[in-house]
Amino acid sequence: MPKPVLLVTRKLPDAIEARASRDYDARLNPQDEMWATDGAEIARRAQEVGAAGILGAAGDALNTACIEALPESVKVIATFSVGFDHIDIAAAKARGIVVVNTPEVLSFATAETAFTLMLMAARRAGEGERMVRAGQWKGWAPTQLLGVTLEGKKLGILGFGRIGRELAAMARGFRMEIHYRDIQKLPPEVEQGAIYHDNEDSFLGAIDIISMHVPGGDANRHWLNAERIAKMKKGSLVVNSGRGVSVHDESLIAALKSGHIRAAGLDVYDGEPKVNPGYLTLENVALLPHLGSATIEVRDAMGNRALENLDAVLLTGTAPPHRVA
Ligand code: DGY
Repeated sequence: MPKPVLLVTRKLPDAIEARASRDYDARLNPQDEMWATDGAEIARRAQEVGAAGILGAAGDALNTACIEALPESVKVIATFSVGFDHIDIAAAKARGIVVVNTPEVLSFATAETAFTLMLMAARRAGEGERMVRAGQWKGWAPTQLLGVTLEGKKLGILGFGRIGRELAAMARGFRMEIHYRDIQKLPPEVEQGAIYHDNEDSFLGAIDIISMHVPGGDANRHWLNAERIAKMKKGSLVVNSGRGVSVHDESLIAALKSGHIRAAGLDVYDGEPKVNPGYLTLENVALLPHLGSATIEVRDAMGNRALENLDAVLLTGTAPPHRVA
């Protein structure tokens, strides 16, 4: 029996490519050419190789036009990400194409990134590093680059899913008070003392820091806008390691300039890899290049998770464990 053809859209960790090549007729992308940002090109390549499965990634243009143009041979799309806002799920369902993702394995690493950003914003780490690298540091001074401590601050977690809960666990070690906003109040064993807000006004008014963990897509587009920022206390911090689309950049930039928001830390951007140029000249924003799950351990785990799901559909004919459509 010939092995099923698997179209892999991005360069993946070596161990994952080796496993994919062992079990599939894998068509890899070793040079990591960015053709996957063009949905028509994904569909063209799938057609050319007669793909049974596509192993894609966050940012691939698996949009309506792409999915509608995929050949009949495609049975499953696996995304090397927990987020699937880059995939037109309705179009995949209409075509009977199974969609799977890689949840859980990246929660701790993504929370680590959020925590890194929170510390960078609170303690002005980016600003300090730029000063040292530019040769402008004149030595220790009692009033130099004073930030704020996280200890005792009220951390507001928007979206208390797996990543938000990992962040809460880390924040408890910093003696922070955890507040959260989600569609419903969670059981006490999940909350672990976190304070639920059943409306956004009380949430935004109570917290000192917001960390955003909501999915991308239209439902949360520009959630953090000027109106909501105005409801936060003066001097609050903003952290986003979820999806860039949930922040209205112009509003956040204006608030960073006015000081209403003391500082921010961002790992994701609306329309990334483009970054709103307004951020680039501000000292009080830490900017990372979508590093959320970027650890050696996690990227291997994500690849193995994606392949387990593909194996279920294409090799064993069983139910994939992480099906989103
Ligand atoms: C995800 O998994 O959705 C991340 O954003 C990619 O690291």
